[in-house]
Amino acid sequence: MGKNPYRVVVLIGGNGTNLQALIDHQSSSFPYHIVGVISHKMDAYGLERAKLAGIPTSLVAHSDFEAREDFESALINALNQYEPQLIVLAGFMRVLSANFVRHYQNKIINIHPSLLPKYKGLNTHQRVIDAKEIEHGVSVHFVTDDLDGGPIIAQVKVPVLDNDTADTLRERVHRAEHRLYPQVVDWFASGRLKYEENIVTLEGKPVGARGIVS
Ligand code: GRF
Repeated sequence: MGKNPYRVVVLIGGNGTNLQALIDHQSSSFPYHIVGVISHKMDAYGLERAKLAGIPTSLVAHSDFEAREDFESALINALNQYEPQLIVLAGFMRVLSANFVRHYQNKIINIHPSLLPKYKGLNTHQRVIDAKEIEHGVSVHFVTDDLDGGPIIAQVKVPVLDNDTADTLRERVHRAEHRLYPQVVDWFASGRLKYEENIVTLEGKPVGARGIVS
């Protein structure tokens, strides 16, 4: 803390539309600065997005490592070069060990395409349609060693329409993601969001089990 602006590193593995939303917002009045982008896949389009924005990138390809602990120690080396205050997972599709998470205690957040604790894991949009849900959404949460199970910071609800396919629903959820993630990073960077003694607070008030819901 105490550094200005707030140093954010984004971890990606794919298209990077959430990274793009974070890049677009940092160029307005938001008080954070993306100091590095790390991908675990060489062909992740998000790497191009970072380069176009002039952000330093690193590749730590999981396929180069046989053991998860070797991959994670390379990831820690890459991360530490950027001296991050917050690590933002945005389409980073590797499960992080308890050791890794402890190393960056309370400093890693993730965005997940469902209203957690419902629909942890993959293929959330299709599973929501199959279950005939009328409501879906997105959650931003702290990363713990409980996969998709860390304390929730905020959620946005998204309606499921009668004629939705997994693709149309994904599109609508993505739009909600792109609004929510920069907002949450801004809360952090401006010191309004805190996670202390296992309680997430926004401007001093506990956010509750579902986080800030909109
Ligand atoms: C998003 O749907 C996010 O919720 C999930 O992975 C996807 C990443 O998309 N964790 P993108 O690479 O940011 O476009």
